[in-house]
Amino acid sequence: MKILTLLGSARKKGNTAAVLTAFEKLVSPHAEIERINLAEVNIYPCKGCDACQKVQDQPGCRQKDDALRIFECMRSADLVLYATPLYVWDCSAQMKVLWDRQYSLVKYNAGTATQSLIKGKQTALLVTCGGPLEDNADVIQVIFRREMEYSFCQVAGIYIVADCTTPRELGGRAEWTAGQMLHELLGKQDSMTVYTENSR
Ligand SMILES: Cc1cc2nc3c(=O)[nH]c(=O)nc-3n(C[C@H](O)[C@H](O)[C@H](O)COP(=O)(O)O)c2cc1C
Repeated sequence: MKILTLLGSARKKGNTAAVLTAFEKLVSPHAEIERINLAEVNIYPCKGCDACQKVQDQPGCRQKDDALRIFECMRSADLVLYATPLYVWDCSAQMKVLWDRQYSLVKYNAGTATQSLIKGKQTALLVTCGGPLEDNADVIQVIFRREMEYSFCQVAGIYIVADCTTPRELGGRAEWTAGQMLHELLGKQDSMTVYTENSR
């Protein structure tokens, strides 16, 4: 099994990276992982030129940047995990620019989206945020589900880690969330982690 993880935070040692790294460590005996830090790649914003809609079997985007390489990685992965901090109730700009460019993977026929180059792909979302879940990390879940439905992908799980301060203060919550993800996304149990209410 191949998992592509996409880190949407500019902080390589921030909260999102801490939970994502915990997941990658747990999952590494079971799957091949490729991580891409979106803050370190070059992805231009979508120009809305619709050149991508003139070809059916490839992205067809005129902008020859790292998005094209990421699309190839997505297409060969069994699971794509998007990890982002919550920024103004939405994903980070680094993630948003990628989601916009994924428009080139969805193909229209007579004005209707009928095909996707990542059709049937399993996807998941990991979000860390400073505030609570309610009235805060709700909108991003709707956006993600809608984006994945639009791309003909399957949502295998959404994981929100609320009330984050620093990676250090996350404590066992990073491992707890990683264990949940391992269980739900891969059907595996981490025997080394003791899950308690306190580590939630
Ligand atoms: C520009 C900006 C916008 C933010 N917006 C929100 C928000 O709308 N809701 C929230 O709960 N936290 C918000 N936060 C806090 C971050 O989501 C939180 O600190 C997150 O865990 C940071 O992840 P990182 O350490 O991986 O960058 C914001 C932080 C920044 C810098």
